[in-house]
Formats: sequence, C-alpha cells, structure tokens
Amino acid sequence: METKFWEVKKNPEAAIAEAAGLIAAGEVVAFPTETVYGLGADGLNGTAVAKIFAAKGRPADNPLILHIADTEQIYPLTSGLNANARALMDTFWPGPLTIVVPRSELVPDIVTAGLDTVAVRMPSHPVAAALIRAAGCPIAAPSANVSGKPSPTNAQDVADDMTGKVAGILDGGSCGIGVESTVVDTTSPVPTILRPGGITREMLEERLGAVEIDPALNGDPALRPKAPGMKYRHYAPKAPMYLYEGTLAAQRLTEAVLRAQKQGLHVGVLCDDTVKGRLEESLRRGHTAEIFSWGQGKADLAEHLYELLRDFDRVSPELIIAMGVDEKGLGLAVMNRLRKAAGYQILQAEEGSITVKSGSGFPEFLFS
Ligand code: TXA
Ligand code: MG
Repeated sequence: METKFWEVKKNPEAAIAEAAGLIAAGEVVAFPTETVYGLGADGLNGTAVAKIFAAKGRPADNPLILHIADTEQIYPLTSGLNANARALMDTFWPGPLTIVVPRSELVPDIVTAGLDTVAVRMPSHPVAAALIRAAGCPIAAPSANVSGKPSPTNAQDVADDMTGKVAGILDGGSCGIGVESTVVDTTSPVPTILRPGGITREMLEERLGAVEIDPALNGDPALRPKAPGMKYRHYAPKAPMYLYEGTLAAQRLTEAVLRAQKQGLHVGVLCDDTVKGRLEESLRRGHTAEIFSWGQGKADLAEHLYELLRDFDRVSPELIIAMGVDEKGLGLAVMNRLRKAAGYQILQAEEGSITVKSGSGFPEFLFS
C-alpha cells in the first residue's frame, strides 16, 4: 500500500482535508496528539477499525480508545455517565485523559474487544481536533507503533513502523507530553487508574477525592490488569535493560557503568543530564558507552523516553542500564513505562545496600 506523508505545517487545510477524506472512506491514517501519535480510523466502522489491528499486529482482545473533538460527541457512545465521569470531562478535557464508561450499542464490538465499556478521550492537539471534526466521526486510535514497540512521539518513528501499512501519516512535529494518556475507569465504585499518564494521580485526587490504582500495575504476574493492553510486555528495547531505583540510584548506576567499561562491555545508559555529565568526566576518552540523557526532570523524561528507547535499538548495546525517578506527579507514569521496558529487572539502591526488587539473572558488575 502507498502511504501518503503530509507535513501539516506546509499546508494544514489540504493535509487535514485529505487525511479526513481517507478516514471517512474507511482507511487508516496516523496523526499527532499531545501524548503520542495515534493510528486512526472511523470508530463506528468495524471494517475500518479491523485495518488498525492488522497494521499494528495488535491482539484482538485489546480494545481501542475513541477520540472525540467536542463533549457532545460522547453521548451517542455511552449508555450513561456518572458524576465522576462528568467531573473528569469538565476538568481535564481536552487533554491527556481517557475515561472508561459504559458503552452504547452504536460502538462496534471490535472497538471494545467485546467489553461492556468503551474508552473515550478528547485530545488537545490542534491537528487531532481538526482531523476528528473534518472526518465527522469519532476516531478509534491506538498508539501508532507496531505492537510491542515503544509508542512513536514523532512522525519519523511512525514512518519507520507504518510505511506501506497505512494510507497516510500526518506529520505534526514532536508530541509534547511523550507518554500516553491516563486511563481512568469511571464505572468502578472508586475511580481507578488503569494506566498512569499525562494527568497525574495527584490531579485526579484533587478533583475526585479518593482514587485507586489498578494493583496489577506493579508487575505482579498473578494479577490481571483491567486495561487489557497493560498486560503486554511493551515499550521494550531489544537489549536487556536493568533499572536502578531508590535514593542512591544515580550513584550506583555511575559506578556500574565504570565497571562495565573496564570489562569492555558495550553498554547503553539512560540517565539525566547531571549523571551524564558526571559519567563523561569519569570515563576515559574514547569510551564506548552510549549515554542517552533525557534532560532534567520528569517532564523531560516523559517527553523523550520513547525516542531514547528507540535510539538504543539503533546503536545496539549489549545491555542498557537505566536510572529511575520517584513516583510523584508524572513519576508514576514514567516509572510504569521504565519498569516495563526493563522487563521488571529492578535493583533497589539505598544507603549501604543494593537489593533485587524484582527479576533475576542480574550481571555481577551491577552490584559491585
Ligand atoms: O495517549 C493515548 O492514549 C494514545 C493516543 C493516540 O491517544 N492512545 C493509546 O492507545 O495509547 P492504546 O490503544 O495504545 O492504549 C489504550 C489502552 C490499552 O491499554 C487498552 O487496553 C486500554 O487503553 N483500554 C481501551 N479500552 C478499554 C476499556 N473499555 N476498558 C479498559 N481498558 C481499555
Ligand atoms: Mg499503545
């Protein structure tokens, strides 16, 4: 299949009109949102939605989010909204929040993967909003990656995964938030975070009072996540990845990288600017470590995490050592993605000890 590529800023009206025409005609088009790129099709056309699953290689038991551009568009999609759902819509839409609500008959089974609920989100990205309005339908869209790869946050990463598989790609530049929307189930007695994301737990609690977090998000394989997509090993680079958490994470990571270098290992490092600076001072000239920094702070980490994970695949290190952050604010979302990327191979670095938090088979040099 030929894949059209539109640079939106060159001619926004024409690009959006053409892309919307393809969606209305039952084709699949990738588009930017404020979180990550989405792979969109007419959300009320089951045949069109099936093409999304085919392009991604997505398991059929993983439901899609319906994207809307105006609040009124949610009413035909649901059999009823409770007070929590309405409060979330009023406060956080448009923006990086997806709400799970009871579905209506109008929503095709393939969208909900047979569940009696449907996930709905109103993105704030102007290109996404314009596309939805021009297409004249809710747009079903998962992240625009091949299943199992990190979500794409720029059009080149979409093109790497989707050229030849979809009708078009709208290039609207880089996504500002960088991690997917927060998914909140509004149908449970206490609203529950099924996937942490751009709207933080603290923001939700301030608006709703008590909020729960799906206990399966800790990586316990005995628990089944309520968002089917959260059970898949996702976001993972090709090389094995190990994650240091805890108060001494930065220091222990630095020491481990120096030891890896001495052993002649080709190591990838994921850290912030401060640690990168320190490492570059300590490593000898001509070192082979691939040190990728996200910048400074959690917003930078969220924004750059997926592109850095994809960059590691381009330089093929033998292993990747990453540093964690605390779970406040955006920390909950980025740590969820980092832990998954590491396959839950996690070391806890505290004063006087490095212990295994989860996982097994860690290389010896990570400890001393
Ligand atoms: O930021 C985002 O949400 C991006 C952009 C494109 O909007 N979309 C995205 O979609 O991340 P996707 O399909 O990659 O992730 C949707 C998640 C999956 O984990 C899926 O299982 C869950 O939402 N989900 C969808 N419908 C659901 C439902 N009815 N009940 C529970 N979880 C649901
Ligand atoms: Mg996804």
